[in-house]
Amino acid sequence: GDSVVQTEGEVLLSEGDSLTVNCSYESTGYPSLFWYVQYPGKGPELLLKATKGNDKGRSNKDFEAMYRTETTSFHLEKGSVRESDSAVYFCALSDTVTGTAGGAEHKL
Ligand SMILES: *[C@@H]1O[C@H](CO)[C@@H](O)[C@H](O)[C@H]1NC(C)=O
Repeated sequence: GDSVVQTEGEVLLSEGDSLTVNCSYESTGYPSLFWYVQYPGKGPELLLKATKGNDKGRSNKDFEAMYRTETTSFHLEKGSVRESDSAVYFCALSDTVTGTAGGAEHKL
């Protein structure tokens, strides 16, 4: 039942512009939140993550995203983009329950 919603489609920017990519999440618990980036011709890779509310995830490429529980959002931000930031950006959330949830029921 947990999900993320990204509202932007394609975003066109010039070098030096600031970037925001919205992500809202819906969860019954307190998930970890992630941004993945996929550069052209490559597989997706982890950009940054935040494991609890009010944590700020940061990447070594000057991206950051604040885990806001009051607005249930995790918007990705960068102050000044470069051409090399051209990519697909994915928001994701983790399982809220670690380990096995439930189990098999054996009915006679
Ligand atoms: C992104 O989020 C901000 C703040 O929550 C909001 O004002 C803006 O309208 C959103 N943009 C889109 C494209 O949904």
